[in-house]
Amino acid sequence: MSQPPILHIPPRTIMTPGPVEAEPSVLKAMSSSILGQFDPGFTQIMNDTMVSLRKVLQTDNHWAFPVDGTSRAGIEAMLCSVIEEGDRVLIPCFGRFGYLLTEIAERSGAEVHLMACEWGKVFEPAQVIAEMERVKPKVVAMVHGDTSTGRMQPLKDIGQACRDLDMLLIVDAVATVGGTDVKTDEWNIDGLITGTQKCLSVPSGLAPLTYNDRIEQILNERKSIEKGLIPPGENKGGMSPQGGRSGGIGRRIRSNYLDLSQLQDYWSPARLNHHTEATSMIYGLYEGLRVILQEGLPARFDRHRLNEKALVAGLEAMGLSLFGDPASKLPTVTCVNIPANIHGDSVRAMLLEEFGIEIASSFGPLHGKIWRIGTMGYSCQKRNILLTLGAFEAVLLRHGAKLYVGSGVQAAMDVYEEAAKPNHEVTAK
Ligand SMILES: Cc1ncc(COP(=O)(O)O)c(C=O)c1O
Repeated sequence: MSQPPILHIPPRTIMTPGPVEAEPSVLKAMSSSILGQFDPGFTQIMNDTMVSLRKVLQTDNHWAFPVDGTSRAGIEAMLCSVIEEGDRVLIPCFGRFGYLLTEIAERSGAEVHLMACEWGKVFEPAQVIAEMERVKPKVVAMVHGDTSTGRMQPLKDIGQACRDLDMLLIVDAVATVGGTDVKTDEWNIDGLITGTQKCLSVPSGLAPLTYNDRIEQILNERKSIEKGLIPPGENKGGMSPQGGRSGGIGRRIRSNYLDLSQLQDYWSPARLNHHTEATSMIYGLYEGLRVILQEGLPARFDRHRLNEKALVAGLEAMGLSLFGDPASKLPTVTCVNIPANIHGDSVRAMLLEEFGIEIASSFGPLHGKIWRIGTMGYSCQKRNILLTLGAFEAVLLRHGAKLYVGSGVQAAMDVYEEAAKPNHEVTAK
């Protein structure tokens, strides 16, 4: 019988809005030997990961830990653990991932009130606040940076209004944490979810999240413990007002795997036996967070801003135009209008085949109309920006595009040269 060929991974420069290239030291950490999930050596790594996560998420919340699964597992864990049948949830949506919140909230039993705005724009906070006052939801769920449109929604005023009106604010910050400022506590965000494969530069597979005591209170009220884990003599049946120990139904969280009330017990000294932890992924997250804190959040955000600036300067100097309202541009994603008579997917395929560079297409109404280029995490480097601009120009010329030849890379180099001057406020990696 023939054997499968030896695994071959082609070399790539990944400039999509995720997944992006992993930090080399993260990949090294992930190849460390396995520890049992209750080994004190491993539980110390869990505790240290929580400490780093709080710093990266800019929160004093006690609860900050990853859920196993991709970012949407974290979103689903948060929404299904908080939302009960018939709860009103307001979702201001400005792209594909707002619709994902809608889909998950509906499946969790919510009465969803959707506000939609034109793709390429975001909401005036006052618009959202007026709708909050009208709908009176229990939860406002929003995306911070929507990678499908490359837009970022300001959250500070909405967060303050949520607190004033006693509503919960739950935020998908999958595309922003680690790449641009996300001030969980200062913006009054009650529950926040991110993902590993974007600006954290860890492979896909964990969804770090955090929540405050307002959400913890709901979890404790809905808490149940699997029957097989209840010590003898404690099986009273039904739920106690403080959170059942008994596995009764009632308000019980519908998902077992994504039940935050059980997961928080696993991430507490109680170390409740829930799932078998993906220990190698936790090593990777630990190291990814360590690298971020070593670089420092302000320096990291400056690096992202500088490389974005160089990319944008290069694309515009080439003669390409950007999609969307510049005032709400997401610093970690740049959306480029595909010029008339150019086949977007053919350009992407040639970039990948000839240069090993991956950029992204888009979804729904924007498919075939824009390319999306990510500047995230480890991929967000001067070298990658210059290579991408040079290769992009070559491929576009091959497709017959009319460009200002030679201008793109030069404009980006001007940005880096300017930034390297003494007293300039941002620096390259
Ligand atoms: C803003 C945003 N939210 C959620 C997701 C879903 O993440 P995942 O594919 O990791 O489940 C993505 C993925 O691209 C995203 O960009």
